Amino acid sequence: MAIERVIDTSLHEDDNEESNVEFSLRPTTFSEYIGQKHLKTNLKLAIDAAKKRGDVLDHILLYGPPGLGKTTMAGVIAHEMGANFRATSAPSIEKPGDLASILTNLADGDILFIDEIHRLRRAVEEILYSAMEDYKLDIVIGKGTAGRSVRLDLPHFTLIGATTQTGNIAGPLRDRFGHSFRLEYYAPDDIKSIIERSAKLLNTTIEPDAAKLLAERSRLTPRIANRLLKRVRDYADVNGDGIIDKPITEAALKLLEIDELGLDPADRNMLSLMIDRYGSRPVGLSTIAALTGDEASTIEDYYEPYLMQLGMIQRTPKGRVVTEAAKKHLGKA
Ligand code: ADE
Repeated sequence: MAIERVIDTSLHEDDNEESNVEFSLRPTTFSEYIGQKHLKTNLKLAIDAAKKRGDVLDHILLYGPPGLGKTTMAGVIAHEMGANFRATSAPSIEKPGDLASILTNLADGDILFIDEIHRLRRAVEEILYSAMEDYKLDIVIGKGTAGRSVRLDLPHFTLIGATTQTGNIAGPLRDRFGHSFRLEYYAPDDIKSIIERSAKLLNTTIEPDAAKLLAERSRLTPRIANRLLKRVRDYADVNGDGIIDKPITEAALKLLEIDELGLDPADRNMLSLMIDRYGSRPVGLSTIAALTGDEASTIEDYYEPYLMQLGMIQRTPKGRVVTEAAKKHLGKA
């Protein structure tokens, strides 16, 4: 098991989820949601059109790297539609019956959110096809020759699916989404605004140059920005008067070993291993995973997207290649 990383984009227990006693930092309306302008414009149009027609919203697929606000946006869509929001994730839907139970408990207009939808089991996914297309549930009652298939009506719901890997979604499923949107990395100024908004909600003072510095180290990702903010707030509470200024932020980031580009020791370790063992030659994903002791999917979902965004790693048909930029950053040029 790898150590928990501050800059990890997977959801940690203390990320202000609904289970947390602390209120949520998640925005609930379009006007509170910072960034992703293209996405918001398109969604607003779809929502206004659906409302005008008195219709349900077409199914929506949200994709992109973890931590950019797919779940948050799904919640915003539900709020803006005035609809109920039911959230689940593919790994927790084990059997077709689990999905059947979720679907039959929905009401007209409800929004069903399925996270990590690329991880749905085949048999479960097949139930979803007619549910999405015709609002019908096909189930088999009885076994063997006595088994017969029945078709039940389902409420008119909207499915919002989220994934980090569109490539891994079966064509028939992908085709059933009327809308498909990619969430992009945030502009540093937007991350700074998110940090300032969160600081306000946490009743913490952060100076503008500290917010800017923190934004530069947050991998253009709100989830990381909010997490770093909380770590720096802890540092400011213990080592200062609670006010987050630039020197406090610098000291806290140094303690967390997060460098100017937002890389942590695990990123630097992976890049170093690749450079030392393979130089500029391509390395397969499973080899990288073996080198670092992580799962291949962890490398693919959590390390790589931002390193590719920075131009430090390139994907080629023969494997991953470390670039000159990475070598320079690590002093191995
Ligand atoms: N918190 C996390 N993501 C956010 C966003 N996009 N806008 C505002 N606050 C956020």
